[in-house]
Formats: sequence, C-alpha cells, structure tokens
Amino acid sequence: MKIFKDKLNLQNELIKNKYVSFIPTMGGLHKGHISLIKKSQKFKLKTLVSIYVNPKQFNNKTDYNTYPRNTKRDFKILKNLKVDYIYKPPFRDIYGFRPKHKVFLDKLSKQLCGKFRKGHFEGVLNVVNRLLEIIKPKYIFMGKKDYQQIYLIKKHIYKRNIKSKIIECDTIREKNGIACSSRNLKLSIKEKKIASKIYLLIKKIKKKGGIKFNSLTKKNLKKEIINLGANKIDYVECYDVKKFKKKNLISTNSNLFIAYYINNIRLIDNI
Ligand code: PAJ
Repeated sequence: MKIFKDKLNLQNELIKNKYVSFIPTMGGLHKGHISLIKKSQKFKLKTLVSIYVNPKQFNNKTDYNTYPRNTKRDFKILKNLKVDYIYKPPFRDIYGFRPKHKVFLDKLSKQLCGKFRKGHFEGVLNVVNRLLEIIKPKYIFMGKKDYQQIYLIKKHIYKRNIKSKIIECDTIREKNGIACSSRNLKLSIKEKKIASKIYLLIKKIKKKGGIKFNSLTKKNLKKEIINLGANKIDYVECYDVKKFKKKNLISTNSNLFIAYYINNIRLIDNI
C-alpha cells in the first residue's frame, strides 16, 4: 500500500499505472466504504482511495469541525483490505490550481439536500472535478446512499465529456437497518434506536407500495417520524429513481428520500 500526501508523487506513480479505480471518501471509514473498495478490487485495476474532508461542501462550521477524523484507523482498514494507493491531500493540492473543466451544476442540485444545505453540491462537484483532473480514473465507485450526489456527478461528467465511469454501489446497512454513515459514530445507543425505527417505518411504507404520496401522506408521515424521536425533518419526498423526478405514487420504481435530525446529527437515506 502506497500513501501519497501530495499530487506530484501520486501523478508520477499514475504514469506507470494509468488506469485506476477510484473511491473518493472523507474518511471515517465504515462498511459502506469497504463495500465500494471490495467491488472496485473485482475490476482488477489498481484501487485508489482518497481521504479528504472537503471544507467547501460543509454549510455548517461545527459540522465540519466535528466530522469524524481518524487517519490511523482509516489507514489500518485500508492496509488490511490491501488497497494499492491512498491519497490524503492537503488543501493546497486540491484548491491550489485552476481546473480545466468548469463545474456543471444540474438544476436538480436545488432540490432535496440542495435546498437545505446551501452550497453543498457546489462544494462536492468542485472537489470531485479537481480529484478527477488529478487522478483521471477509469472507474469511480460511489454509493447509492448519496443518490443525488451520484446523479449530479454523472451529469457533470457527461456534460464535460470526462472519461471516467461511475459504478453505482448498493447501500450497506447496519444490523438495525440504518444506512452505514460516518455520522453514525456520533449517535448514542438511544439515538441509533430512533434512527432504526424511522428506517423500519419507511421500509414498511415502501414495501406496501401503491400508496399515493400527496401532501396529506407527507404530513402524516412527518408527524410519525417526529413522534419516533426525530427533532427536525428537512424533507421526505418520493422520487422516481431512474429519471430522478418527483412522483406521487410509492412504487418499486420510486424511492422515499429522507433527511432528518436526531438532536444535531443530520442523517439521510433513500429506501
Ligand atoms: P463520504 O461520505 O465519505 O462517502 C464516500 C462514498 O461512500 C460515497 O460514494 C458514498 O455514497 C459512499 N457511501 C457512504 N455510505 C454508504 C453506505 N452506507 N453504503 C454504500 N456506500 C456508502 O460522499 C462523500 O464522502 C463526499 O461527498 C465525496 C464524494 C468524497 C466528496 O467530498
């Protein structure tokens, strides 16, 4: 496993191994990240994992400052997985140059998380655009847990004719059903139980299917989620997963997208 802390050394290495599979992360590694890495390793190219807590995608300073960081633990996990390369850049490596491509921001960036986290997707696309220019990966492995993120990055790659392909990976869940997330590290046992109950509720509704998702359904669902222990709900919406358009019927083609808070911890999922 080779660790690169600056892009010049990394790029020198990449001259030898031009086609890599890439997994961008912000560290705080968990089973979700690990599944992306294992999937990537099946593609037989060298696997490169980046760890960079991107300040530009946080719309809240406390959230950025308290984001779980544990490099030692992350490196150990990556070493056990026999990952080929780690890239852990400093700020200037990422933001100290003018990228070739301008970020393409699809209008969907204003919905769901984009509506509630101002500047978040601009920040995500900014860092991903730069990482892709530095690494030029053949494949990028990303999780469907952040479905809107995948959708927007795909649009950017297509519009800017970037030669990297996104491989979408299924959401990995903890035993109690909640999607693995670095932010789960901040949850107490009691808070995890609340998150699990919310997951089970949404799963039940999704499984039942054929339910009209109108303003009354939404209002009642939000009430139930609050009663289960959430403090605040940013959104609960039903979206067609292929076209990524709002839908008013819960079916197998659509997912329920949710973002809510338990105390001050923001969790997202789509089921
Ligand atoms: P991060 O939250 O660390 O996630 C890195 C990758 O892991 C993303 O593609 C995300 O969708 C995936 N992932 C997270 N939880 C998952 C789960 N439970 N199951 C499967 N995959 C999961 O997403 C980011 O970082 C950043 O926005 C980034 C793309 C690195 C840009 O800064």
